[in-house]
Amino acid sequence: MQIILRRLRSEDISQVIEIEKEAFSPLWVTTPFKRELTNRYASYLVACGAAEPEEPTPEGSDSEQEEDLPTWRRWGSKIHGLLGKQTQSDAEPQDIAGYVSVWYQGDEAHITEIAVRESLRGNGIGELLLIGSLRAAVEYGSKVMTLEVRVSNFIAQRLYEKYAFESVGIRKGYYSDNREDAAIMTTCPIDTEEYQRKFEGLQESYRQRRGEITPVV
Ligand SMILES: CC(C)(COP(=O)(O)OP(=O)(O)OC[C@H]1O[C@@H](n2cnc3c(N)ncnc32)[C@H](O)[C@@H]1OP(=O)(O)O)[C@@H](O)C(=O)NCCC(=O)NCCS
Repeated sequence: MQIILRRLRSEDISQVIEIEKEAFSPLWVTTPFKRELTNRYASYLVACGAAEPEEPTPEGSDSEQEEDLPTWRRWGSKIHGLLGKQTQSDAEPQDIAGYVSVWYQGDEAHITEIAVRESLRGNGIGELLLIGSLRAAVEYGSKVMTLEVRVSNFIAQRLYEKYAFESVGIRKGYYSDNREDAAIMTTCPIDTEEYQRKFEGLQESYRQRRGEITPVV
């Protein structure tokens, strides 16, 4: 069982909204994901467990009972198994582990949101989502990737810095819930050989540590 990236589908939306609500402030305006599905100038990717072919199970076994569970619960338990640790909460396991949204504006690919289910953080899923969005941006023809991040969000900043985002300015009082400033972060040009070499090196380290990175489906 492997974590894969795929494009957002309408059946994922309720889980993605759950993750969005958990990750961002209660005053965060919910993204109109359904409408965004048809936005040609955006990419919405989710990280989830890859489906495995069903194996026949003997009648009356425990596995047969598991088959009665909804798909998202069966996949969810496999994601937790794959990641080698149990959730820290008693929440039900889920199949969508995280998502990222990117808007394309001129030469720029702008990450509008990236979030991982809280109980699954620290397992490489956020990094996988960032890799997927950088690959999508290069494929789209974007020249740089940008985003805003709370100045206090050191975890996200460390992730972005790993992929050579640099802080290039501040938007004062950008976040409406507490008027916190946003750091504006941007990559150097991503369509250069230099960045692609660095990016390939980072992906290779990721593969060695976390496993294969499958193409977005
Ligand atoms: C930011 C977020 C997406 C990271 O996802 P994640 O799956 O937990 O991160 P990963 O396990 O892939 O870690 C990737 C890198 O992030 C950084 N990172 C992750 N957890 C960290 C921690 N606890 N402390 C410091 N750095 C951390 C590290 O650079 C790490 O690379 P490393 O493993 O080589 O050290 C996740 O914390 C999240 O959903 N946060 C809430 C939403 C949010 O703040 N989104 C960003 C909005 S701009």
